[in-house]
Amino acid sequence: PITDLYAREILDSRGNPTVEVEVLAADEFCGRASVPSGASTGRYEVVELRDGRQREKNLEKKPGIKHTKERYGGMGVELAVDHVNSRIAPAVIGMNVFDQAAVDEMLKKLDGTKDKSNLGANAMLGVSMAVARAAANSLGIPLYSYLGGVNVKMLPVPMMNIMNGGKHADNTIDIQEFMIVPSGAETYKEGLRMCAEVYQMLKKILKEEGLSTAVGDEGGFAPNLPDAGTVLEWMEKAVRRAGYEPGQHITFALDVAASELYDSTFQKYVFEGEGKMQGKPCVRSSEELIDYYEELLERFPIVSLEDPLDEEDWDGWELITTRLGLHTQLVGDDLFVTNTKRLKKGIRKKVANAILIKVNQIGTLTEAFDAIELAKRAGYQTIISHRSGETADTMIADIAVAFQAGQIKTGAPCRMERVEKYNQLLRIEERLGEIAQYPTKTRN
Ligand code: PGA
Ligand code: ZN
Repeated sequence: PITDLYAREILDSRGNPTVEVEVLAADEFCGRASVPSGASTGRYEVVELRDGRQREKNLEKKPGIKHTKERYGGMGVELAVDHVNSRIAPAVIGMNVFDQAAVDEMLKKLDGTKDKSNLGANAMLGVSMAVARAAANSLGIPLYSYLGGVNVKMLPVPMMNIMNGGKHADNTIDIQEFMIVPSGAETYKEGLRMCAEVYQMLKKILKEEGLSTAVGDEGGFAPNLPDAGTVLEWMEKAVRRAGYEPGQHITFALDVAASELYDSTFQKYVFEGEGKMQGKPCVRSSEELIDYYEELLERFPIVSLEDPLDEEDWDGWELITTRLGLHTQLVGDDLFVTNTKRLKKGIRKKVANAILIKVNQIGTLTEAFDAIELAKRAGYQTIISHRSGETADTMIADIAVAFQAGQIKTGAPCRMERVEKYNQLLRIEERLGEIAQYPTKTRN
């Protein structure tokens, strides 16, 4: 049984507070986990409790906790920590550490809201994750085996974000993420190496041209460039100079994070950086944006587009799926928010063909696993993803293997909170040895 459980406030990769939880089973320390945090969050994500925000939103206030901006600018998570220690712990202590679904159900019952705003999704997810890790540790088996069972052997293909824009950087690039995918690799280890080589080459050639090699939140470079086409040209150059052929060894993927560009009053997508670089406003309607993607797809070997349209633009999503969905992976991140209800709506409307899985968008592991399973049944691809604010916790690497997700997105091969996930996958591949498998194509 779970004999103790407690939380503390730690810092994430952006220097913002987050929740870390430890679980003891049979009186021994067993598992620790910490919670990530997004910047370009979807409107339908569950609620991350922040001490200062409680004040703004007129939610529960607790004596002794500073619900003001003076502590961490209001970003503190002392209330979420308190919820773990004083409200969740008494209910979960005594439960079986192997009953993950029952623990997660208890968390949902205790919270009692749809958006997890009562206990806070950060409090709940910290507990959910730490319980899973404690269970695996108390059996003395790797987390991926505990979660995935005896027949798990598939490593995910990395989608490496090597150029950052949007909310993850202070540059002129409007599209949030430009990723490379090692489509020609035979093993995970080889794919990782190819991506890291391209990353190093990109740094070198940006430097040669006097462009900035400072990195964004996810470790990708963030120079000021005029538009997406130019970014992709730089990436092609880096791929070639690293000794690979774009389209054959390395393909590209974009996360547009279009909800961040959408102006709902005018129902248009505003490309502010591109406009600034051109000296005149750059605005696109849903249809114009899809035309624009089509042009980019013709010019460059792009295999995947994430959040190409706004999270409410279901008509636009239907259109893009009809026009591009047969040959291009179309990923719902802000659109689906790892939520089975939103995913069901997408399946019904035949919208997108892949889902991004972020455990903190939904707040418990069980619900995230439900979303993966629903996606698979409907023939949607799955990509396990980090957040732009991360910790050293590598659980998503194990989840990607456990659920044979096929793909993982965890940033550039730079910034240790990203690299550690990639390294964990190296360890898993090595441990699996000869039985390890690797999907050679991202869309199979
Ligand atoms: P976020 O970005 O973690 O800032 O939301 C990641 C993504 O949009 O995929
Ligand atoms: Zn995204």
